[in-house]
Amino acid sequence: MGSEKQGFIWLSGLLFLNILALSTAEVLYYEFFLQESQFTKLCSTKSILTVNGSCPGPEIRVRRGDTVFVNVHNQGNHAVSLKWEGVKDSIDGSNELIQPGRNFTYEIELEDEIGTLWWHATSAWAAATVHGAFVILPAANEDYPFPAPTSDQTIILGEWFREELTEANQTIAPGSADAYTINGHPGETYGCSNDTTYEMQVDYEGLYHVRVINAIANETMVFGVASHSFTIVGQSGAYSRRSFTNSLTLAPAQVVDVLLCANQNVGHYYITARPSSGAHITNGILRYTTTSSLI
Ligand SMILES: *[C@@H]1O[C@H](CO)[C@@H](O)[C@H](O)[C@H]1NC(C)=O
Ligand SMILES: *[C@@H]1O[C@H](CO)[C@@H](O)[C@H](O)[C@H]1NC(C)=O
Ligand SMILES: *[C@@H]1O[C@H](CO)[C@@H](O)[C@H](O)[C@H]1NC(C)=O
Ligand SMILES: *[C@@H]1O[C@H](CO)[C@@H](O)[C@H](O)[C@H]1NC(C)=O
Ligand SMILES: *[C@@H]1O[C@H](CO)[C@@H](O)[C@H](O)[C@H]1NC(C)=O
Repeated sequence: MGSEKQGFIWLSGLLFLNILALSTAEVLYYEFFLQESQFTKLCSTKSILTVNGSCPGPEIRVRRGDTVFVNVHNQGNHAVSLKWEGVKDSIDGSNELIQPGRNFTYEIELEDEIGTLWWHATSAWAAATVHGAFVILPAANEDYPFPAPTSDQTIILGEWFREELTEANQTIAPGSADAYTINGHPGETYGCSNDTTYEMQVDYEGLYHVRVINAIANETMVFGVASHSFTIVGQSGAYSRRSFTNSLTLAPAQVVDVLLCANQNVGHYYITARPSSGAHITNGILRYTTTSSLI
């Protein structure tokens, strides 16, 4: 068979797959409310800008090829715009600031992005608290190119400042955070007994798709789970060649998709995140739930 013909068959196969994926694509609508909310961490309370009162903000969860409309209502006190990290589509008006009291709808047409992206406020001071995950599952008729996970879990590495950040904080120097957080939890290493610790529950022999997002402005982070290793399967919105590692190193804004197999002795294990430059460590816990089949 001539290579031209092979090429044609390959191309039409690809087209066919695309048409299949497109035929199942959906249009989804999200409503985001930017608002000031009171948060207490490190034993002190301050007001921060959030989406819908939560930090990290709501997760967007769609399928490959979907179109997403995100209507952002600014009920806060500052003009803000959102950035869609890793989205290939050029989004109309994405540089425009949404003034307090106004709203703006982002229209995001996904192409072949798959795995995990994220969104955040464009300016550094607001991005510290206005960010969230953008999960892209395979299309309805598509399989994972790796063993299908039992379930998936998003882990967002963040930072916390005791003082209020303002528009004066256009950049954030490495090492200036008072704490690092896992899904908003500072954990037990900062000496405030009221701080909460992130926990991920797993079943023995479950296979977990863990989506790790470094939402810290200016810090390379090292992430690991004691006694467990990871299989890297994707990075920043695309599948990647599989590789094995005991810990992940994530540049600012980087996302890594990994598989974690809960194959150790039933118990609990520290999840750790620390900046590559410093000594601060933030802990979470990976906890095996004891199922009746094990008793
Ligand atoms: C945000 O809050 C509004 C009002 O409570 C709600 O209608 C909307 O669904 C929420 N958005 C998300 C993404 O959870
Ligand atoms: C810790 O939490 C308790 C109960 O909610 C509260 O009474 C106390 O003031 C808090 N302590 C600090 C230092 O925030
Ligand atoms: C603002 O929100 C309203 C109602 O939620 C919607 O009808 C309108 O299209 C939005 N405006 C923009 C510019 O997105
Ligand atoms: C934020 O800006 C203020 C005023 O310039 C400065 O004093 C403070 O150190 C900055 N905070 C951070 C975390 O960069
Ligand atoms: C990161 O820190 C460096 C050194 O302080 C600074 O020049 C740069 O603007 C910072 N970047 C961000 C995104 O804050």
